Amino acid sequence: DERIPVQALTAEVLRQSLGADPEHARASDSHKGTYGHVLAAAGSAAMSGAGLLCSTAALRAGAGLVTWAVPETLAPALAGLRPELMLAPLPDGGRGDWAQVDPVALAELAGQRDALVLGPGLGRFPQGDAAWLRRLWEALPAELPLVLDADALGALAEADDFAQWPRRSGAVVLTPHPGEMGRLTRTGTAEVQRDRIACAMRYARDHAVTLVLKGARTVIAAPGGRAYVNPTGNPGMATGGTGDVLSGIVAALLAGGLEGPAAAALGVYLHGAAGDRAAARRRTPGSLIASDVIEAL
Ligand code: APR
Ligand code: MG
Repeated sequence: DERIPVQALTAEVLRQSLGADPEHARASDSHKGTYGHVLAAAGSAAMSGAGLLCSTAALRAGAGLVTWAVPETLAPALAGLRPELMLAPLPDGGRGDWAQVDPVALAELAGQRDALVLGPGLGRFPQGDAAWLRRLWEALPAELPLVLDADALGALAEADDFAQWPRRSGAVVLTPHPGEMGRLTRTGTAEVQRDRIACAMRYARDHAVTLVLKGARTVIAAPGGRAYVNPTGNPGMATGGTGDVLSGIVAALLAGGLEGPAAAALGVYLHGAAGDRAAARRRTPGSLIASDVIEAL
């Protein structure tokens, strides 16, 4: 019902309200280009796995092509970990981290792709995080769909004026867990959890983004005022790396042409359903790891 702004996310709601196919079917005459090219900017020396999980999840979620952008010093160690991935090494001043990677160089790479996911395992930049992100934001084509997760959200939380940044015509999807959301809102985790739906809806509206507030019963809030609560997923997914998997899935769905709210909602739904399937295959959900979620997609 159009008058009810908050709905439980079901296969029917995905199909009817969001125009997203929960079966994720493919047309018989489609090709790689139909499904788009994801650029995943993720991972650093201590957290290369975050980048591998994110970019592999984008492949499993159906992206036609996935390129993994990394600080160039790390590239030799990461080459060939996943044969289907392409690697894009970015000049890093020999440091092996993101601190000296030029945001304009990243924007140029991303501008030739169909979606950018930024954030998992980047590590913190030493200073000026928000300025770095703002330069990237302005150098990217305005229509390029964007997923910001993890350390990119840490950088965003340091900006005092995000609501005033130039509006983008392409989707912007933010995927904070409650701690990251508490930093974005500057109210802390407890205040976020007190009313998750209202918090997500307010942020989405005020910043013109699709806001995915993660955790049990993830909330997906669209910039236009609607919100969805996801029933899939389980506590076995409370393990490092499952968030990185989600951001890669959402980027793949954006690259395939879905709008922000549809890509976010379908991504969250499928991520949870894959987690449920993976948990059911194990004797206890506690033994689930993020790679199992990718495998179950
Ligand atoms: N029920 C359903 N889904 C859950 C549950 C639950 N009880 N607990 C967690 N999840 C899902 C969340 O909804 C989300 O999709 O698992 C995923 C966890 O994502 P993140 O919290 O982003 O975790 P991740 O980034 O993979 O790993 C933790 O985050 O805070 C940083 O530095 C921290 O390295 C750590 C990392
Ligand atoms: Mg995370």
